[in-house]
Amino acid sequence: MKIIESALKASTYIAEIKAKGKKIGFVPTLGGLHKGHQLLMQKAREQNDVTVISIFLNPMQFRKKHFIEYPSDFELDKVIAKKKRITLIFHPTIKEMFPFVRYLDDFFPFQNDEFKARDPERFVIEPKVQNSIDELIRVPNEMVYQLDGKLHPWFFDASATIVHKLFKILQPDHAYFGEKDIQQLAIITKMAETYFPAIKVIGIPTLRDADGLAFSSRNVKLSDKQRQSALKVYHALKYGENLIRKGESETRIVLTAMKKIIMAQHLLEIDYIDIVDKKSLKPVNQINNAVILYVAFFVNSIRLTDTLIINLMNEK
Ligand code: PAF
Repeated sequence: MKIIESALKASTYIAEIKAKGKKIGFVPTLGGLHKGHQLLMQKAREQNDVTVISIFLNPMQFRKKHFIEYPSDFELDKVIAKKKRITLIFHPTIKEMFPFVRYLDDFFPFQNDEFKARDPERFVIEPKVQNSIDELIRVPNEMVYQLDGKLHPWFFDASATIVHKLFKILQPDHAYFGEKDIQQLAIITKMAETYFPAIKVIGIPTLRDADGLAFSSRNVKLSDKQRQSALKVYHALKYGENLIRKGESETRIVLTAMKKIIMAQHLLEIDYIDIVDKKSLKPVNQINNAVILYVAFFVNSIRLTDTLIINLMNEK
């Protein structure tokens, strides 16, 4: 297993692999590898000749406090990647990905621009944002102002920006993302169609622990009591799913029942909850097609999300 920090060296290595006609499967990560990542790596291995992962904790994607607190352990990540027979870990430094940045604090002001005007439908590349970020990918209005993107649209600019850089460097054939982060998956799919038509983005269903909790790097921060509370969100999603499968088609009724289950837990606070159309990510009043039940929530100060996709049409 190779570990490369330099973008130039990684590109050169990738070019050598591609020259041999080999297909590259890519899993981008922030580190803190968990079983959900391992499933993505497994899929990448099954469907390609070579598997590449990136481990880069992108400061743009966090408020400063959360960036500093992110649970990452590169030594452990290396062990996991080796077990999954990864060919290359691309592990760049911040300077490698953002050559103009001087201080960590340079990253965060762009988040204050969050409600800046955007193109309604198209991605836009903004050069030289605040002297630190050399290129910012602005996600179009219609994709960013959905689900909890309404609360922090900058997050999706940040993730699209870094994935755009990673795609440029690593030029994979297939890139794997979790369906748990459904809005990110939709945005990256569209971004790839726009700028990297040769890269196919593949969504992988959410992997859950034996108790039903969706894998997330942040789960390690949960105490037993907090974990039990977080699980209630999954129970609420399953309850909502059950209502829908039994024929309830009023979003309002399903949401009210789900909220009641979640709000009965005093450690939980709902940040965002909705039922949206699977394709457009827009809220629906009536449930009669493929929909996503989506909850973003806090367990004390730890923010988690959970999702269920229900495809009534396919099941009829
Ligand atoms: O979903 C994540 O882990 C991150 O947003 C990603 C895709 C690795 C970009 O930093």
